[in-house]
Amino acid sequence: MLTGKKILLGVSGSIAAYKTAILVRLLVKAGADVKVLMTPAATHFVTPLTLATLSRHAVLSELATNDSWANHVMLGRWADVMLIAPLSCNTLAKMAGGHCDNLLMAVYLSAVCPVVVAPAMDEDMWHHAATRRNISTIAGYGHHIIPVAHGELASGLTGDGRMAEPEAILEWLSGFFTAKKSLEGKRALVTAGPTYEAIDPVRFIGNHSSGKMGIAIAAELRRQGAAVTLVLGPSSAEVPQGIHTIRVQSAAEMYAACHDVFPTTDIAVMSAAVADYTPVTMASQKIKKDSDRFSIELTRTKDILLSLGQQKKAGQFVVGFALETHDEKAYARKKLITKHADMIVLNSLNDQGAGFGHDTNKITIFDQQGNEYPFAVKSKTDVAADIVNTIIHLLHA
Ligand code: CTP
Repeated sequence: MLTGKKILLGVSGSIAAYKTAILVRLLVKAGADVKVLMTPAATHFVTPLTLATLSRHAVLSELATNDSWANHVMLGRWADVMLIAPLSCNTLAKMAGGHCDNLLMAVYLSAVCPVVVAPAMDEDMWHHAATRRNISTIAGYGHHIIPVAHGELASGLTGDGRMAEPEAILEWLSGFFTAKKSLEGKRALVTAGPTYEAIDPVRFIGNHSSGKMGIAIAAELRRQGAAVTLVLGPSSAEVPQGIHTIRVQSAAEMYAACHDVFPTTDIAVMSAAVADYTPVTMASQKIKKDSDRFSIELTRTKDILLSLGQQKKAGQFVVGFALETHDEKAYARKKLITKHADMIVLNSLNDQGAGFGHDTNKITIFDQQGNEYPFAVKSKTDVAADIVNTIIHLLHA
């Protein structure tokens, strides 16, 4: 299953470290060559001798001992994959911040191979805003995150944060090595959700977009190996682990976030329902109802898709969406040209089960070569797979 694969296992300080004895045994049994690194804290939970015996290699935890120095650069280059399991809250924070205060961190920062982490921490730590941000940050580095499990925790509480079981980690790694990942090494940018345009401190102009379609596309791009940044408007939909998410409110914030990320993007998918108009001014205080009529002057927002389409360079692929009620195909083809997109995904509101508020969608894709790809009504997850497969097809065409 893992015959000949070189796995560098980094063990950080968490009670789940005791499970790495079983993990190392499973990896070695599956044919992998495993070298183990430990943080000093991890050695309190499982002994280096146990892991050295099971891995059949010396276990390293210090950058230098007496007169010998551990070559962290060569270790990072040796591995096919660096697996950090368990990933403690502290080591996660150091990875996100680029700290280098022990051997494991020095090897991590030198590693040129894919990095996979299996986090383990108590539920409250797992859900803390700082942890969410750090997970999102390392996902943005292109690292793979093996989802935590729900169950009994060291605190005695039950919740999210358990490290995936050694068997599940083995299965994840087997899938990782065998899967055909068409977008490995690519960076993708996805916009999703609505935008809120503030009228005053308590009111806004928004729309009914749930963000689900864009999140499903981000997840599928990730599954196919891309490092994904999701620029997400106000949405309560859950974002899967492993996607670097930038939360925004307004069209202007979404525009700025997309322009920051676009220069290093290979594939941009603009699926957000961005407001076309925004109030000319936002009242600094709540507007009182002291007249029978009230009007708000609106001005056009900047079109993100158009702007990215205009500045895209050779090798960048830009996808737009069109939501139409009539003359759908003609409008979709027109958007392809006017917005300089490589591909337009049309949602027709005439199709049953398509558009906002449904868990299903029906799309037709148009490309620059004049091709039209119609698809049946499907779940948003399956529609996302159709969209990403069409992107891959056109990238290779
Ligand atoms: N879009 C964008 N920025 C905006 C408005 C739209 O990036 N300020 C993107 C959407 O994410 C989507 C596409 O443009 O990919 C859809 O545009 P849409 O608003 O339907 O088209 P318009 O060109 O504005 O045409 P119309 O409103 O006339 O249908």
